[in-house]
Amino acid sequence: MLYLNGRILPLAEGRISVEDRGFQLGDGVYEVIKIEDGRLLWVEDHLGRLNGSLDQTLLAGVLDGHPLAEILPELVRLSGLRRGTAYVQVTRGAAPREFGLPTHVQPTVLAYVQAHSFPSDADVRAGVAVHTVEDQRWARCDIKSTNLLPAVLAKHEARLAGAHEALYVSADGMVREGGSSNAFIVLDGTLRTHPANNRILNGITRCHVLDLARELGLPLLEQAVHVSDLPRASEVFIASTTRDVMPVVRIGGLGSGILTPGGGTPGEVTLSLVDAMRSLIAESLADPIPRPPATI
Ligand code: PDD
Repeated sequence: MLYLNGRILPLAEGRISVEDRGFQLGDGVYEVIKIEDGRLLWVEDHLGRLNGSLDQTLLAGVLDGHPLAEILPELVRLSGLRRGTAYVQVTRGAAPREFGLPTHVQPTVLAYVQAHSFPSDADVRAGVAVHTVEDQRWARCDIKSTNLLPAVLAKHEARLAGAHEALYVSADGMVREGGSSNAFIVLDGTLRTHPANNRILNGITRCHVLDLARELGLPLLEQAVHVSDLPRASEVFIASTTRDVMPVVRIGGLGSGILTPGGGTPGEVTLSLVDAMRSLIAESLADPIPRPPATI
C-alpha cells in the first residue's frame, strides 16, 4: 500500500504528474527506514533528518498535514510486513517546468513499505568488497536528496568490478563514504570516520555506531582517512540502514592494487560493533518507550 498526498491506495495505483519536480529536476528528498519484527527502527531519527533535509531545500513545513509518525506504522500494519524498509519521498510537487521555485504548489508526499533481504549472519562473517571511485557528487551530500545519478553510476562501476559497494574518494584522496553507506576505518588502533559535514550523509546507523563505540570505550576520531593510509588500515567496515554494520574485506579500484584489510577477514573491532549493533537494535525494537535519538 502507498500513502500518496493524503490517501492510502495500492502501490500500483499511485500516479504522479510528469511535471513533478522530483521526476524532472530531482527536486526532492527521501528517507529509508528499517522495518524489523513489524516495527520501524529509529523512526524519530529518520523523521528528524527528513525535516533537516526539507529545511535545507526550502521545503520546511510541507509535512504539516502529513503525520508520517502515524502513517508509517499504519502502512506497516496494512502490509503485514515483518522485515523490510519504509521509503519516504517528498518533492516540491508538480509545476510547469522552470528551475526557479514555484509558488503555491502542493508538495508530493509519498511513503510505502517493501520487503528487503538484509545480510545474513553468514554474509556478515564473509564481509564484502568495496571499489573506490572518485567522488563526483555535489557539495551538499549532507542533504538526503533524490539527485542520485552519481550514486547510480558509482554503484554500477563498483558492481562491474565485482564489489558490493562503491567507496567515494575525493579528488585530493580523502575517503568520504560509501555509495549508500558510511565508511569506518581502524587505523593505528583508532576507529576513524569522516566528520559529519557537507561532504557526507550523516547516517542514522553511523550515529548509533559512534554512540556504541563510545560505550565500548573504543578510541575514536571523526577525522577523514587519506587513501594512501588505507594499506595500513587493520579493519574497514560500512554502516547503513540496509546493512547495519558490514565488514569490508577487500578494497579495489586503487592504482596500487587490491587491499585486504584484516587479511581478508572481519576484525575484532568490527565484530564487536556488529554484536553491539544487534543488541541495540533488539533493545530499540523491544522498548515500548522510544529510546533517546542517536547523538546526531
Ligand atoms: N542510504 N551515505 C549515503 C550516501 C547514503 O545514501 C546512506 C543511506 C548512508 C547511511 O545512512 P543511514 O544509516 O541513515 O541509512 C550514508 C539509504 C540506505 C538508501 O539510499 O537506500
